[in-house]
Amino acid sequence: MTFDIRGFRNALGCFPTGIAVMTASSDEASHIGITVNSFTSVSLAPPLVLWCIDRRSRRYPAFANATGFTVSILASNHQAVSSRLAGAGEHNLDGIALFPTELGPPALADALAIFECTRESVQDAGDHAILIGRVLRFAQHDGAGAPLVYFQGKYGALARS
Ligand SMILES: Cc1cc2nc3c(=O)[nH]c(=O)nc-3n(C[C@H](O)[C@H](O)[C@H](O)COP(=O)(O)O)c2cc1C
Repeated sequence: MTFDIRGFRNALGCFPTGIAVMTASSDEASHIGITVNSFTSVSLAPPLVLWCIDRRSRRYPAFANATGFTVSILASNHQAVSSRLAGAGEHNLDGIALFPTELGPPALADALAIFECTRESVQDAGDHAILIGRVLRFAQHDGAGAPLVYFQGKYGALARS
């Protein structure tokens, strides 16, 4: 029996998510970023989060080897930067409005929340790897506005009832 990968991907897209940009230090550029929607919370004590990276991504070696990463939760006005850091070969942060952090990898300016993480573990999982981070510092920016949302392959906005 063949498995319908395209249909599987489309069905997974029925789960609406937020969007995050992960940033890390790299040899290639001073810092790099990648747009992801696989970010999720894992544990409150200890404070752990995870995200998944495609092991075929050219960004994979830098993120898998980095000692840590910074998570920026995107607001609805971050759509252009989200698209740019999802582009093939668009890894550096040149020209993107940034916010300095204590641990190193900068956050995106005006993110809804940021999490500064050290790498807890990297686990292979099929064609992706699961990166677990231990949160050392975090900040929430009230007033950053509505989140950027992703659903069925398109950006959208959160409708509050
Ligand atoms: C909304 C959205 C969510 C994405 N989520 C992930 C993700 O969770 N993990 C991942 O590895 N790539 C994800 N991508 C793809 C990467 O952003 C990027 O396009 C891919 O790494 C490009 O390959 P490259 O690193 O070889 O240039 C996502 C792209 C978009 C537009």
